[in-house]
Amino acid sequence: MLEQFIKIKNSALAEIQSVKNSAELEALENKLLGRKNGELTNLLKGLKDLSSEEKKSVGQAANDVKQTIESAMAEKKSELARAEWVKSSEKESMDVTQPALPSKSRGHFHPITLVQNKLEDLFASMGFMVLDGPELESDYYNFTAVNIPENHPARDTQDTFYIKKHPNWLMRTQTSSVQVRAMQKYGAPLRAIVPGRCFRNESTDARHEHTLYQIEGVVIDSGINFGNMKAVLEQVVKNLYGAETKLRLRPKYYPFVEPGVNGEITCVLCQGKGCRVCKQSGWLEIFGAGLIHPNVIKEGGIDAKKYQGFAFGFGLDRLVMLKYGIDEIRVLKSGEMKFLEQF
Ligand code: PHE
Repeated sequence: MLEQFIKIKNSALAEIQSVKNSAELEALENKLLGRKNGELTNLLKGLKDLSSEEKKSVGQAANDVKQTIESAMAEKKSELARAEWVKSSEKESMDVTQPALPSKSRGHFHPITLVQNKLEDLFASMGFMVLDGPELESDYYNFTAVNIPENHPARDTQDTFYIKKHPNWLMRTQTSSVQVRAMQKYGAPLRAIVPGRCFRNESTDARHEHTLYQIEGVVIDSGINFGNMKAVLEQVVKNLYGAETKLRLRPKYYPFVEPGVNGEITCVLCQGKGCRVCKQSGWLEIFGAGLIHPNVIKEGGIDAKKYQGFAFGFGLDRLVMLKYGIDEIRVLKSGEMKFLEQF
């Protein structure tokens, strides 16, 4: 009987080796180990007729044979499964030489992004860093740090959205909130622009939105003067609207600059002749700017006796509207495909 077990083991191992697919393996498993008529099963059944002496020695060997066959089968099973998986995934894999299907429509940048990218490139070419700041801002950086203390009337002109549980947090009203952050982080000298979203509690109309984009600029160095500021801003408007565009600066109060100005360009729609958009004046206001107030420079941790600077803030939506002749600010964030597809 012992010989029969050895014989089954040897032939089973050879057969397992030559099996080519899982169906064959299953048939073999049935032939050897099938409950009813499996060859090994039948042989094992015969063990009960042996004397207890024989049972001991043959039984042990029979068990080993059974285990050896079972583990050889299991190994073959996983080998076949792996091979079959590789084969089927090869069949499904893509043909990289096949030409692409024509796409129905190609995406493109939003007009605000187009103008923002253009300005980022221009300022980067003049050595400015492009910085980012949080939209959910502290009262400190949005107001106090830029010389607008609590109860200052300038706060009234920039009402915004406050967070109920955190009275010191608000949705920033201006990218000027990054002025002091940038000074504290990078010190002087400093040249940076900050494009970003701002928020105001506005009743919306054709020219006002509760969510708007600005581009802030901060320059700090020793010996900075008003002429430096005008030269940089002139470059920007000529780059955006053409070399013939004129820039004029008129005094305007902003708490964080001294002196402060309003930047106006010759109306791009009527070339300065006077039209509906420029209210017949021939000029359009596009930014605020000025020499940075010493209080703000000090707040940034920079020696205000040694360093001066200028700052400016463009309303990006406004720049976009003028560049493309758009007379309704609300379409910019409307998600209206008929509008967006034109860019
Ligand atoms: N932060 C100002 C505004 O939102 C614009 C500005 C920026 C003015 C920098 C002067 C200097 O109106």
